[in-house]
Amino acid sequence: MNFGFSKKDGRSPQARVEPASVIAVASGKGGVGKTWLSTTLAASFASMGRRVLLVDGDLGLANVDVQLGIAPETDLAAVVAGWVELQDAVCPVNGGAGTASGFDVLPGRSGSGALAGLPPEEAAKLAATLTSVAMQYDTVLIDLGAGIEESVMRLARACDRCVIVANDEPTSMTDAYAFIKVLRGYAPSVQPWIAVNMADTRVAGRRTYEALARASQTFLGFRPPMAGIILRDPKVREAIRQQKTIVQLDPNTAAVDAFQIAEALVRGGAESTEDSQYARSA
Ligand SMILES: Nc1ncnc2c1ncn2[C@@H]1O[C@H](COP(=O)(O)OP(=O)(O)O)[C@@H](O)[C@H]1O
Ligand SMILES: [Mg+2]
Repeated sequence: MNFGFSKKDGRSPQARVEPASVIAVASGKGGVGKTWLSTTLAASFASMGRRVLLVDGDLGLANVDVQLGIAPETDLAAVVAGWVELQDAVCPVNGGAGTASGFDVLPGRSGSGALAGLPPEEAAKLAATLTSVAMQYDTVLIDLGAGIEESVMRLARACDRCVIVANDEPTSMTDAYAFIKVLRGYAPSVQPWIAVNMADTRVAGRRTYEALARASQTFLGFRPPMAGIILRDPKVREAIRQQKTIVQLDPNTAAVDAFQIAEALVRGGAESTEDSQYARSA
């Protein structure tokens, strides 16, 4: 099957010898910037020359399409229902995967149906389908729903790494810790990474990371690597309002922080993680 390319523009998929790196973007709590980080990482990986697929895996509140200003004709729900083939549901953004700043999106909704309440077995099937598209891309990013429900975890289990986004609100931190703990039990082979978003300063962001890393070390026996820190930046809201990626709006903004996260993910860590069992480069 020719998964992973849009028939609409005739681009053909490139043969790969190994599957893409599959990275989930997750959080315990909603509203921490998962969707924004997912779209910005997609643009960042594209600018590194990678073929990227961004999957809107937020089964309840899919909104990648809104942030990017695309109007999909079909969506994941239709794929799960068997109404359309996956390759026909893929939408090219900014020229699509394989172009300098473009990537492909598998939208979470098009108005045709919602994935909310997808039974866990269906989520597992969806995860298997997504894994099969990985051969056509270098990087597959999945914007996960908030929370620790089984359907979220089944999608997370299909990934190599999971970037858990947190900010300094106590509820965000406790929910991020809960996510790390459940992921650890449910999918021990998935590497959890921590990204701090909307930090007021780098020092404050570092403090948030350290608090989470310390709790994981003390209670779970491992220290998740830091993916990076993103400062609070009014340009983020502006980019979302204009339905553009922040890389298009102004690359000298929080986009730089997000790009550094993409680099850290490629390199294997934003800092030395020798004390981590996940120290190996990914
Ligand atoms: N670094 C940031 N600086 C300022 N505002 C941000 C930042 N990241 C996210 N936001 C704001 O947070 C809101 C929620 O972001 P979103 O990506 O939809 O979160 P989630 O997907 O986790 O629910 C957005 O409306 C955006 O304006
Ligand atoms: Mg979201």
